[in-house]
Amino acid sequence: MNYDLFLLRDIGISLFIFLISYFSIGLIFKVTSKNLPPGPKGWPILGVLPHLGTMPHVTLANMAKKFGPIMYLKMGTCDTIVASSPNAARAFLKTLDHNFLNRPTIIGATHLGYNSQDLVFAKYGPKWKLLRKLTTLHMLGGKALQNWSNVREKEVKNMVRSIHEFGIKCEPIEIGDLLSCAITNMVSEVVLSKRIFANKGQESKEFKEMVVEFMTISGVNIGDFIPFIGWMDLGGVVSKMKCLHKKFDVFLTKMIEDHVKCAHERKEKPNFLDILMANGDDDDFGTDTSSSIIEWALAEMLRNPHILLRAQKEIDQVVGKGRMLVESDLQKLPYLQAICKETYRLHPSTPLSVPRVSNKACQINGYYIPKDTRFNVNIWAIGRDPDIWANPLEFNPERFLSGKNARIDLNGVDFELIPFGAGRRICVGYRMAIVVIEYILGTLVHSFDWKLPIGVELNMDEAFGLTLQKAVPLSAMVIPRLVSNVYV
Ligand code: HEM
Repeated sequence: MNYDLFLLRDIGISLFIFLISYFSIGLIFKVTSKNLPPGPKGWPILGVLPHLGTMPHVTLANMAKKFGPIMYLKMGTCDTIVASSPNAARAFLKTLDHNFLNRPTIIGATHLGYNSQDLVFAKYGPKWKLLRKLTTLHMLGGKALQNWSNVREKEVKNMVRSIHEFGIKCEPIEIGDLLSCAITNMVSEVVLSKRIFANKGQESKEFKEMVVEFMTISGVNIGDFIPFIGWMDLGGVVSKMKCLHKKFDVFLTKMIEDHVKCAHERKEKPNFLDILMANGDDDDFGTDTSSSIIEWALAEMLRNPHILLRAQKEIDQVVGKGRMLVESDLQKLPYLQAICKETYRLHPSTPLSVPRVSNKACQINGYYIPKDTRFNVNIWAIGRDPDIWANPLEFNPERFLSGKNARIDLNGVDFELIPFGAGRRICVGYRMAIVVIEYILGTLVHSFDWKLPIGVELNMDEAFGLTLQKAVPLSAMVIPRLVSNVYV
């Protein structure tokens, strides 16, 4: 009797192993017998993760030199395609855009993005469409941008005043902090009619600390690439996220309660949260991307003083030295615009863009792309490709002033330069970002001369994270260059 039981158990186990092997091998053959794009062979389960290092955009750019512009690889257990040329990016974000309209579910979006309900990670569908429409109409689209120009002007003037004080005292400033404050306030005034960093009060301090924590823990997470071990929470990231989520919840609930109490005062000019709440929703946005572009541009100008001088000369001719630059001056400043484009090219804030995922299996250029394949564009690699750009490592804004480069637009149609992505899920904030970046950078360059503190060497190293930041924050000395009453 016992013997029969053992036999039965052994047969059961053998059958189980046989079925698992049969289906796994079947699956592997089914996928590999299709013509997948070329790519590096990774490790079982881990895929290429162990090879990516601290600068994945650089590693992937080097791999693409060997395997080509449409590369297939395994990130953990996830099928992934990386596009590294304008044509490859066009193939996915234009020809196949309809099949790549969703973003992969990642742990950060689940625990910190209210179950992927924010605009960045929302599933493509009616909710995403409504959020996108409201955001464009009331906050970030052409007309909304004009309506909020006074908010931007107020914040920029505030920032210039703070910088001026550092200049008078001959103290170095860490410009990144001031930029983040100004840009966050620009957004929060539109969304909440409130300057988050207005005062050095407890509330804004707590918020700042939460944002820093958010940035620190929402980087690369092993459970995003090997989902079946996600439950183990290696590194404790999920429990940290849950804890931070509770803090955000308390903060946002209080903000919304305060908001509702005084909604009647804003009947004439409702802010974005009023409109979202009227439509039964809420959302939040990041601003780090814009401040990092300005910081990189200033760093490049400190490294290339002739570019700073030429920009100042151009702005002086249009604005003079008796007033500050205003947004309507921007269209007369092609060199300033070229400096911004050159910075997007060489120092893109989102070097691997924001990932998408395929809805169903598809074909491109004779290659088979499985369902649920993640897709990244290596924007950083395209910006440094010698086949597209002459002397790609040189910071040379002039390249955008003549010839075919002068016609390059940033709205996702010229795939040589797509810092904001392309297609239906192109960055919803790109119009605002372009204006804010040109306006702030132009104002900083026009209002001050910039120098490195004595004995400080410029460090241009990158730090890969949610955005591509400077590894060492820029610290600089400023000397006011406009008539003194402009700064009061
Ligand atoms: C230099 C500044 C910025 C850069 C480089 C940037 C870049 C990007 C990129 C590459 C994407 C993904 C596009 C795609 O999937 O094809 C994106 C999406 C997005 N960006 Fe930006 N962004 C910037 C500023 C902003 C600003 C200022 C806001 C809002 C205030 C914003 C809000 C968003 C949102 C909500 C999405 C998701 C859109 C969707 O999935 O429908 N971005 N951004």
